Amino acid sequence: MPESFFLLTKDHLDIAIDEIVSLAKMYDRFSKITIIDNLVIVQAKTSWEKISRRATFVKISGKVMRKMSGLFLDEENFLLLKNTNTFACRIINLSSDPDDVNEIEKAMGNMISKFSQAKVSLEDPEITVYAIFTDKENFFGISKKNTQSITPKKIKKHPHELDRRLTRAMINLIGIETGKTVCDPFCGTGTTLLEAESMGIRAIGIDFDEKMYQASKANLAINGYQSRLIKGDFSQLAKIIGDVDGIVTDIPYGRASKTSENPEDLLGRFVSMLPQKKKIAIMCKKEVGDRAKINPIKKYEIYRHKSLTRIILIK
Ligand SMILES: C[S@@+](CC[C@H](N)C(=O)[O-])C[C@H]1O[C@@H](n2cnc3c(N)ncnc32)[C@H](O)[C@@H]1O
Repeated sequence: MPESFFLLTKDHLDIAIDEIVSLAKMYDRFSKITIIDNLVIVQAKTSWEKISRRATFVKISGKVMRKMSGLFLDEENFLLLKNTNTFACRIINLSSDPDDVNEIEKAMGNMISKFSQAKVSLEDPEITVYAIFTDKENFFGISKKNTQSITPKKIKKHPHELDRRLTRAMINLIGIETGKTVCDPFCGTGTTLLEAESMGIRAIGIDFDEKMYQASKANLAINGYQSRLIKGDFSQLAKIIGDVDGIVTDIPYGRASKTSENPEDLLGRFVSMLPQKKKIAIMCKKEVGDRAKINPIKKYEIYRHKSLTRIILIK
């Protein structure tokens, strides 16, 4: 079974880890996952590229290579390196033992140069080979360039808009598959719609504010995206719920954005109409979310400043 590694950034580490777990399980529900600090190792019937293209907080990712007899390469990886034009060797040392990184990198580079015509390129290598050290286990990894995800363009912005990375992570935390449909019933400038479409997910946005509706429309158009937009109260969701596989949204905070009622009443009204069997991710102000009648299976806190902590609730 293919094994992949994902080295995650440390901001929002709890979300970052759960996002990889959720994506791995989405592609293969029997996948096995090992977590070592900010390193996640996944054994699954899916490639690392597929997970990496969707995941938000990945710094480095690739395929794990475990073969140690003679060389660390099986035939497939041997050929990959033999036929590449440029490569680099890197050490990822997560162990408590400081290693002589330069020496190991040099030794790996020399070894590869013996059988490959490829040149070392530290800036822009086609292939990077990693030696990964942790206190639990050591292994090699290999990765190719060009696995980065698409970042949608945004021409209409607003102070209340949600960080695109957290929006993307919310979609992934509820494991919405390619070709399925996500709805954001408070879509604002359309961040959820843009992130969803950039991952091949269909999207429907609702917003009651004409300015926000137009902002979403412009942001979708500049990317050539097809998401459906409805101008109206979020309760319009009831009419389209049969077409929707999941809901990802960011509830109004009652400061920068227009609201039809105070955020607490609005969340209450929203929660009371949520369907039982849909995947749901809601971002809201902590005080408001803590009082809401939601029974989340997961909850993440995001500290912004002294007077604003947000939470993401997964249901
Ligand atoms: C926090 S903002 C959403 C921001 C959005 N995630 C983005 O990235 O731009 C909340 C949005 O809810 C909309 N809104 C407030 N009350 C609403 C209601 N009753 N029905 C539909 N939309 C509503 C506001 O117009 C605002 O655009």
